[in-house]
Amino acid sequence: MLVQPALAQGARKTPVAPPPAPSAPRGDAVAGRELAESERCIECHGADGQGSTHDDAIEGKFPRLAGQQPDYLLKQLRDLRSGARKNDFMQVMARSIDDATAAHIVAFFAGLPPMRGDGRADANGATLYARGDATRGIPACAACHGADALGQRLADGIAPRLAGQSWRYLERQLLDWRDGFRRNSPGDAMSAAARGLSDAEILSLSHHLSGLAAGASPASSAAR
Ligand code: HEC
Ligand code: HEC
Repeated sequence: MLVQPALAQGARKTPVAPPPAPSAPRGDAVAGRELAESERCIECHGADGQGSTHDDAIEGKFPRLAGQQPDYLLKQLRDLRSGARKNDFMQVMARSIDDATAAHIVAFFAGLPPMRGDGRADANGATLYARGDATRGIPACAACHGADALGQRLADGIAPRLAGQSWRYLERQLLDWRDGFRRNSPGDAMSAAARGLSDAEILSLSHHLSGLAAGASPASSAAR
């Protein structure tokens, strides 16, 4: 359902200079908050964007969206809509909203206090994340996702924030890439990165990254 987009008071100041050309339509976080509810996104992703905890059996399988890179989220919705990324239920959800609605909802989730994970510290995961393992062709994850795993724009895509994501969700995605089920990364970067990882290494990486949450610096989240 489309609600009348309520313009955020004060959120749309006249810019002094024209903003850089956006790569995706900019959304309104206030309208997005209502839409996230009416379009039922919060049932699984949480009103605080921290993923749903309403059912222990599926806890952690719904990604946290809070503080995620907005253009990354928009790309995922497009990929789910086109079928480039597969997930039975999310493909239906992505197809139920248009681009403008998606942009508002994404603005809402991306602007929330960032995801706070549920992993435990893992030294092996930390080392692998920072350095990779050249002898086995595993790249340093940090090269693309950033030293603090806050995500960043790359020449050919957007590396998402990983710090504070649910560890079960991270594990699922890494397994899906390694096993060829998820294939929507630009240049197949993630398929290549995950190819040589063992199950144990995937678990270590997932815990390490999820466990970074609590320490995520307020400065970096305030930047958006
Ligand atoms: C019934 C539960 C459910 C509902 C409702 C739902 N989602 Fe999801 N969403 C999921 C699951 C599960 C995944 C992870 C899919 C996977 O494992 O690949 C996901 C993934 C996503 C992702 C990708 C996140 C990432 O880090 O890559 C986005 C973006 C997203 N959902 C947005 C939405 C929006 C917007 C809505 C409302 C229109 C919505 N979702 C409604 C369950 C749900
Ligand atoms: C060459 C750059 C690059 C390298 C190296 C890389 N990644 Fe990625 N990663 C990406 C990009 C780009 C995406 C977004 C893919 C898309 O558009 O769907 C991504 C997505 C992900 C996701 C999905 C997050 C979500 O919300 O669904 C996870 C998890 C991930 N990477 C973990 C890792 C780990 C762990 C490593 C190291 C073993 C790694 N990445 C190395 C570029 C990279």
